[in-house]
Amino acid sequence: MKKRVLIVAGARPNFVKIAPIMREFETHNRRFEGLLVHTGQHYDFEMSDVFFQNLRIPLPDIFLNVGSDSHAVQTAKVMIAFERVALRKKPNLVIVVGDVNSTLACTLVASKLNIKIAHVEAGLRSFDRTMPEEINRTVTDSLSDYLFVSEKSGLRNLKREGINPNKIYFVGNVMIDTLSANLSIINKSDILKRLRLTCNEYSVVTLHRPSNVDSAETIAEVFDILSAVSREITIVYPIHPRTRKMIKKHRFSSKFEGLDNLLLIDPLGYIDFVKLVKESKFVITDSGGIQEETTSLGVPCLTMRENTERPVTIEEGTNYLVGRSKTKVLSFVKKIISGKSKNGSIPELWDGKTAKRIVKILSTI
Ligand code: UD1
Repeated sequence: MKKRVLIVAGARPNFVKIAPIMREFETHNRRFEGLLVHTGQHYDFEMSDVFFQNLRIPLPDIFLNVGSDSHAVQTAKVMIAFERVALRKKPNLVIVVGDVNSTLACTLVASKLNIKIAHVEAGLRSFDRTMPEEINRTVTDSLSDYLFVSEKSGLRNLKREGINPNKIYFVGNVMIDTLSANLSIINKSDILKRLRLTCNEYSVVTLHRPSNVDSAETIAEVFDILSAVSREITIVYPIHPRTRKMIKKHRFSSKFEGLDNLLLIDPLGYIDFVKLVKESKFVITDSGGIQEETTSLGVPCLTMRENTERPVTIEEGTNYLVGRSKTKVLSFVKKIISGKSKNGSIPELWDGKTAKRIVKILSTI
């Protein structure tokens, strides 16, 4: 009998992670029936549909249409809608990825219905409970039955938390599966031409975390740093809807738009975005996934946070933690521009075969 698996995705980084898993289930469709549940946490064309198109993900089998709201309301809406789906579909397994509110909500539901849960990207810890993602990750891991770990720090964290080692599998990073599978298409993107940029002569910025963009004070600090960086090199900033909203609310729109060497653009699809990153001099970000993608591409990355749940990108990759320190950012920017930044190496099992390993493991259970 085929095993029925519900694969949950809700927000932009989730789509990048489920693409190779969906494909692998398609290859093994005699053994599994993989059904994609899109919670609708992200819903704009640039935050959702373009990823489905770029990554050739089949249309969702079930769409929950929850949209944006406060954490409690958004999580609760996903729970209510997903419980109905789980009761109707009676899956043998629910797969959740990453650390967004949809990940947590579906884990809670599946757990109470005694449905087995697999968490892809388990074990990552920033040890910073002010981040909603840290709460989502910790709860998800504690309730999961199969914990698929992307880097070795995850193994240590789960062991420290007393998770049964028989549930833990070090499989590598599904985001890198997507990157490797799409590299030849990425190379063909004409985004540099469209934005009139020259390879290696610009930087890319993405900032959307509440800790950086939700208050006027932190936006002012970010603005100050970016205006200093823009005196050294052109900046391209694809702007997340949350950040755009906050910049407008705190009356910073005209300031950002007034910076000569800063190009504010709408969020990009996966293919154009990765091409932009790949050909850039460096990236400034507060995203989780981009710290990993830059390490895989060998592009220097300045992470505007005080901590990271992905320490391998610092220890082995091209990532530096800079917080919101203008001094640190400028010193690294100068180092990178003069060709003196670290080269980095590719972390273990970031080889494009993670989804294959995951589905192989799930086939034996
Ligand atoms: C979510 C994740 C975060 C991830 C990020 C990637 C949580 C707690 N956070 O943050 O971990 O790094 O996705 O993008 O799950 N909005 C739109 N259109 C959309 C989606 C959102 O305009 O399609 C706006 C809304 O104003 C919304 C705000 O962005 O209120 C925040 O969206 P939300 O999904 O709550 O969190 P993100 O900041 O996107």
